Parts: sequence; structure tokens; C-alpha cells
Amino acid sequence: MSIKELAKQYDSFIIERRRYYHQHPELSWKEEKTSDSIMSDLEAMGIETKRFRGRTGVLGVIRGGKPGKTVMLRADIDALPIQEHADVPFSSQNQGVMHACGHDCHIAMLLGAAKILSDIRQELCGTVKLLFQAAEETCHGAEYYVEEGLLDGVDAIMGMHIWGTLDAPKINVEGGGRMASCDNFKITVRGRACHGSAPHMGTDAIVAAAAVINNLQTFVSRRNNPLNPLVISIGTIHGGDVFNVIADKVEMEGTIRTFSRELRKDIEGIMRDMIENTAKGCGADASLEYWQFPGPVINEHDDLNRIARNAAAKLYGEEGLAPLEKMTGSEDFAYFMEKIPGIYAFIGARNSEIGAVYGNHSDKFKVDERALHRGSALYAQFAEDYLQNS
Ligand code: NI
Repeated sequence: MSIKELAKQYDSFIIERRRYYHQHPELSWKEEKTSDSIMSDLEAMGIETKRFRGRTGVLGVIRGGKPGKTVMLRADIDALPIQEHADVPFSSQNQGVMHACGHDCHIAMLLGAAKILSDIRQELCGTVKLLFQAAEETCHGAEYYVEEGLLDGVDAIMGMHIWGTLDAPKINVEGGGRMASCDNFKITVRGRACHGSAPHMGTDAIVAAAAVINNLQTFVSRRNNPLNPLVISIGTIHGGDVFNVIADKVEMEGTIRTFSRELRKDIEGIMRDMIENTAKGCGADASLEYWQFPGPVINEHDDLNRIARNAAAKLYGEEGLAPLEKMTGSEDFAYFMEKIPGIYAFIGARNSEIGAVYGNHSDKFKVDERALHRGSALYAQFAEDYLQNS
């Protein structure tokens, strides 16, 4: 049987598992029952498994009948702190926790791929590792597995995401930037309090903070190359206690998104310069705290792009593929791609006929489950073809 036929055959298994995981969502690094259940699902298929000391997540290993390279297929498994309001009969049984990003689908798609790959194990030229990764939503889960040396001996990795704005059951595989980097920051502006009627007697931290905000947006529009998308958003601002007192302190937090690794390297220094000097010009002091989260997800390996795209076309024809604009959201899969060649695909979940029209992270997020077995097929076909081609 072909991979396409096997995927179709396992369709009801994949949907049943998806619904089970959907009903039992767990938050990042708390995916205990999820990991136990994935373990038993894999063991029932006779697949070798591994757990991580004191951490959630599961690794499955399928050794092919012929020698060759090692490819890893990754699915993230965590849910979000959202109360579900989706119109489905299998909604979350855990109060305030929901698989609103579709990671339940990712678990099920990779379990489906595990079944397919087990069936064709003898024909595989190498090893397939299945990583059920915890804590993607915290942006740091992938980093843990990289530090644990999980990529040692792995030649390439594939990840995918079920996507609420892409029509089901289309597959998107394309080269270039797919998801942006995500860095977060906190700015503290310090002035000197005095009576609001006599501002010259103190230093107004609020006016200095306003200048900082404007200059950061000027950095985006005037100093950054407009051909390089860049977002700097300030999401919180807190300062002052009384209407007629000049505030001595303002704190602001925000996030930065870009697809350019070069720009990302420089941006912290440029921002610090601008923030400190802008505040200084107002007679105030300012400091910047800066945290790097995942880098951009870029499909930059032509060979992997080609293998993945051809795998999708072989399965469902050119009409099974659809374009999708890159996005300024982020994905911790970037940590894997910084270490070894990787490819990232999207599977369409949108279908207005069944009300699956909400974006990922919506409390009404719903997917067209007809797409799921295609995700399993793509994982498996990519793995087989990559090992065959290497
Ligand atoms: Ni997600």
C-alpha cells in the first residue's frame, strides 16, 4: 500500500486520537498525562520510546531495514491557558486549558505517521526519530531538547503546523521566511518627582517615555531597511500615581519581530543607544532589559524544500498545495533549525462550511479534521524520500 493509502486507512485512528488529546489538554511543561498517553500509543505500535529526566515530552525511534541517515519529525504537544468556547462535542475537560493552537492535531498527525512508518519500516533507508516536544508555547521548549543533545546524529528535521487561515486540506511548503523571530524587552525610565504645577523642579519620566516610544517607531520607519520587515510593539506602560505629581518612573514592556538574523544581531545595541540617549535628552535616565526568544523560521535548504514540496505533490498533486504568506508570529522550531537543516510546513484547517474559521489561539479555534491524515502522510513521505535521497 502507498503512504497515501495507508494515511487514508489510519484516518479514523488519527481523528480519534486527536479528539482524545483535545479533551485532555495540558499546559507547557505539565504535559504528564499527554506524554504517558503518547508513550502507550507508540508502544502499542511496537515503537522504541525514550522519556526525558524530570521533563515532559517523548521520543520515538523507528529503525529502517536499510542503513542510512537519521531524520527527525517533530510535533509540539502543549495547550494554552484559554477557556474553550469552540463548538465541538469533544471540548476540553480541563477548566481554563485548551488546545487552541492545534497541537492536539500535531500529536495525532505524528502518531499517524508513526503507524505508516512502522508499516514500511523494512523499506526505510535509515532511522526516523519522532519528537513529541513539550512547551512550545513558552517559546523555550525546543531549546531544552537541543541542550540535551537530542539532535546529535540527526541529519535533518521537519516540523509542521495546522493553520486556521489556510483552507483545508491544503498543504503549504515554500522556501524563505515562514515565521518571525521573537525577542521581548522591558524599558525603565527614571526621572525625579515634583509637583505637577512646577515641572521644571523635577524630571518628567512620562514625557521622556513618550519620546522613547516615538523614537523606537522612528527606528522602524527611518533607520530599518523597509525591505526587511520589522515590528517593535510596546504592549504595557505603567507610570505615575497622582494626577498632579510629575512621575519619577515609567516601565514599559514590548516585543520585537523580524525575519532577518543580521538585523536581530544588531537590534539590542541600537535600541539601547536610542533609549538611553532619548531619555538623556529629556534629562532622565533609561535602561533596557532584553530577552532573546526563538529566531526566525526560515526554509533555507533548497534540497529539503524540494523534497518536502515534491512529497506533498506526489501525495495530493499540485492542487493539494497552496501559497501562504510568511507570518510575524514565532515558533520555537527555530532552535532546531539553527542547529541542523530543517523544513517547516503548514496544513490548512479552515473550512467555513463547518465553522472552522477562527485563527490559532482563538477560544473558538476549530479545525477541519479531513486535513489531519494529510499531515501524517506528509511527515511519512518526507521522511521516506529524505532517507532515500540521502
Ligand atoms: Ni502552535
